[in-house]
Amino acid sequence: MNPSLQAKRILLVIGGGIAAYKSLDLIRRLRERGATVRCILTKGAGEFVTPLAASALSGQRSHTDLFDREDEADIGHIRLARDADLIVVAPATANLMAKMAGGHADDLASTVLLATTLPILIAPAMNVRMWLHPATARNLAALTRDGVHSVGPNEGAMAEAEFGPGRMAEPLEIAAAVERLLAPSGPLLGKHVVVTSGPTHEPIDPVRYIANRSSGKQGHAIAAAAAAAGARVTLVSGPVALPDPPGVTTLHVESAREMLQAVEGALPADIGIFAAAVADWRVAEAGTHKMKKDGNALPPLALVENPDILATIAQSREGRPPLVVGFAAETRNVVEYARRKLEKKGCDLIVANDVSAETGVMGGDSNTVHLVTRDGVDTWPTLSKADVARQLIAHLGTLMGAAPR
Ligand code: C5P
Repeated sequence: MNPSLQAKRILLVIGGGIAAYKSLDLIRRLRERGATVRCILTKGAGEFVTPLAASALSGQRSHTDLFDREDEADIGHIRLARDADLIVVAPATANLMAKMAGGHADDLASTVLLATTLPILIAPAMNVRMWLHPATARNLAALTRDGVHSVGPNEGAMAEAEFGPGRMAEPLEIAAAVERLLAPSGPLLGKHVVVTSGPTHEPIDPVRYIANRSSGKQGHAIAAAAAAAGARVTLVSGPVALPDPPGVTTLHVESAREMLQAVEGALPADIGIFAAAVADWRVAEAGTHKMKKDGNALPPLALVENPDILATIAQSREGRPPLVVGFAAETRNVVEYARRKLEKKGCDLIVANDVSAETGVMGGDSNTVHLVTRDGVDTWPTLSKADVARQLIAHLGTLMGAAPR
């Protein structure tokens, strides 16, 4: 057997459905491909298969209880949620899918699934009417939007003498889906991409800060698209209300100076994409205590310029990524300003967009961008931020292929 999953670590969450017996075979199939498998059984799963059987087949202790003190001391639910390459949920029952979609965390399996940033593959299995119920369709749609992958279900004879879609995919099909997800592939395979995203917060005093309206949606989508294209991705994110993209190493920072430090620490990289809306200025001397409004004088807020992260990296002699991409969010003269920025900062490409309030780009889900290089301007139609990200990454993949430096 080809060890296609050599050294891959899979956390298998077994849900409470009759198809759970097939998950025991799945453990075998994954292990014969070289993977290490660790199992979590829900309470329902324990009615169909035993933790002992899962442990015997996986060669690893199986986990069932969120409040098992021995377990928590040994590996703990947060480590379970982190120490793997992929989480496979098989069978993914209607209830488990609903809990995942709703973000519930009332047992070990659902808590780990909520606490993880790992990629997740579900193999749904349920009665045909449950599968066809609009609630399940809604939950699947929500999970897909969240980046959860799925395999199956198949159509066929099911328990209780029923026929239709809802039968869990066969272990071999699930193993093949795991191989597709974990087998390295994509135009940026072997490349390291560093992405900045979100706003920065510049402290005024311990409770106040200067911020901007960036949501981080575009930068995060770019990080996710680069990971999907096979790259190893480090995302340096300012404060945002977004989940860390699965499969991406995310470093959380607050200020511009912290962001620069995190970026420098993440280098070397093949591509640097600077999508963050970095504050241009910070308060010269942030107070160590909360400023009080007593007295009549307004507090003086002397500002100093922040380091320009993009320009610093693009102009550095050592460690400059071969491809450096900047962004230019403008409210007028978008392309002209972008051209000037390309020269001034020394990057290879600028993604320029209009962020005037009426465009709804700031915080919104779509974007109209112009790709500005020294060779000219390419204006794209309005696309979702996810599509802008995918197309940009595809474009950068072509550039990397065409001009290795
Ligand atoms: O000069 P401006 O802020 O318009 O430039 C935008 C581009 O420069 C973006 O790519 C942004 O991420 C980057 N930038 C930076 N550090 C700053 C200011 C901007 O990396 N201090």
